[in-house]
Amino acid sequence: MQFHATSGAPARQKTDCAIVGIFEKQALSPAAAELDKASKGAISKVLAQGDISGKRGETLLLRHVAGLNCVRLILTGLGKQDEYDAHNHRRALAAAMKLVAATSSRDALSFLGWGPADKSEFQRIGRDTLLAAHTAVYRFTEMKSGRSERQPKLDSIGIGVPSRSAANAAQTGAEEGASIAAGMLLSQDLANLPANVCTPTYLATTAKKLARQHRNLRAEVFSEADMKRLKMGALLSVTRGTQEPAKLVVLHYKGAQSQAPVVLVGKGITFDAGGISLKPPQAMDEMKFDMSGAASVLGCMHAVASLKLPINLIVIVPTCENLPSGLATKPGDIVRSMSGKTIEILNTDAEGRLILCDALTYARRFKPSIVIDVATLTGACVIALGGHLTGLMSPDDQLAADLLAAGERIGDRAWRLPLSEEYHEGLKSNFADFANVGGREGGAITAGCFLSKFTEGMTWAHLDIAGTAWKSGAQKGSTGRPVPLLVEYLMERVR
Ligand code: BES
Ligand code: MN
Ligand code: ZN
Repeated sequence: MQFHATSGAPARQKTDCAIVGIFEKQALSPAAAELDKASKGAISKVLAQGDISGKRGETLLLRHVAGLNCVRLILTGLGKQDEYDAHNHRRALAAAMKLVAATSSRDALSFLGWGPADKSEFQRIGRDTLLAAHTAVYRFTEMKSGRSERQPKLDSIGIGVPSRSAANAAQTGAEEGASIAAGMLLSQDLANLPANVCTPTYLATTAKKLARQHRNLRAEVFSEADMKRLKMGALLSVTRGTQEPAKLVVLHYKGAQSQAPVVLVGKGITFDAGGISLKPPQAMDEMKFDMSGAASVLGCMHAVASLKLPINLIVIVPTCENLPSGLATKPGDIVRSMSGKTIEILNTDAEGRLILCDALTYARRFKPSIVIDVATLTGACVIALGGHLTGLMSPDDQLAADLLAAGERIGDRAWRLPLSEEYHEGLKSNFADFANVGGREGGAITAGCFLSKFTEGMTWAHLDIAGTAWKSGAQKGSTGRPVPLLVEYLMERVR
């Protein structure tokens, strides 16, 4: 996606599609008022006809409005004028971009941020415009042979703002947005690929390619034999029933001198059939998305390296399949994790925590300042929070607050769940140090508690993205979340 910020007069700008806002009760936004003037009241006339009221999410497409230089004009509802904030701006952007993508526009120019604001706000407006455009035009077509479906033609986006200095800020934000969008794109493509293509080996190859693409980035790939040497008994127990070789991928980005790294760990189950604790068949295809945590940390790394952030970042991806077979791990089997702790595997479908616990133990050697794992870990998290907010668990109040705030700022929100001591009880085992599952109740939390047993002494947070990483139904596909949250969190550390 090309992009540019401009402070030229709204009515003069040439574009395939201009986007302006209308507040509730049909009040013109400042840019809409400019266009109304230039078109001798054309917008006011349309409003008088009542086709759009200004409610949040409404859109109306006009063509060839006399007096304007745009081929199309989209009016977008902004909601109540005194409530217009970043959240409503993003909602309006999403609705407008979706409509732009359904037209044949090759470029569009958004005036939804044209108004009084300070520098940091214009930067955010630039960033969010790019993210909204990306989300609206993204299609996964790699596996389609024909050109049956219409592709959005939009490949250039403008951000109209009222002054030179605002344009500079918006341009900076748009550059950030473009890098974050590129990270989301990588993440979405990986997650949308089927499990017969996106294998653990494929993820490892992708990581190596990424390392070649960026300076300061280095990839290591460990085989099952390496994992055996590292005594990763928990990780290896998950891959036992499969033919595809498991991999442990480690990416090192060095953007700063001697500084403790941030480590991101992403769950990379390329297909989760449940193992011997086999899942029911309904929607089992969606378990190809069970590597979305891995995809998101790789996408985050791509964005961070593109932005050349002055930080040290390490990404760890434990990746394998979880399938039943004659060799597969059985309920009741006891394995020894890399940490030395033994685990009774009562349910082979609770496999994510088994690969993550060894990856988290491996993270210790980097003496990280922060460790964050990202995983499609529990169906219980989907029940608790649905598809809107990511589940966040951390014993560290500061880290939890920082992640929540980053999510708010970029519109990729999370919600904190507790990890208090009561919830640990369910993980007791008569035969091993603990079991890999608690009861059904509080399932997202007991999963977090399980991971916390391996992160003692580290500043750690866990993101359960089971509900937010992909959409089901007619819109089935990866969302690219939580790439924006992660990148925004890392950017804030060096602001
Ligand atoms: N990958 C699943 C979690 C999941 C389920 C994500 C549905 C998205 C939608 C995970 O490996 C799993 O199977 N978790 C079990 C844990 C249970 C056995 C304690 C679950 O949530 O049912
Ligand atoms: Mn599972
Ligand atoms: Zn899983």
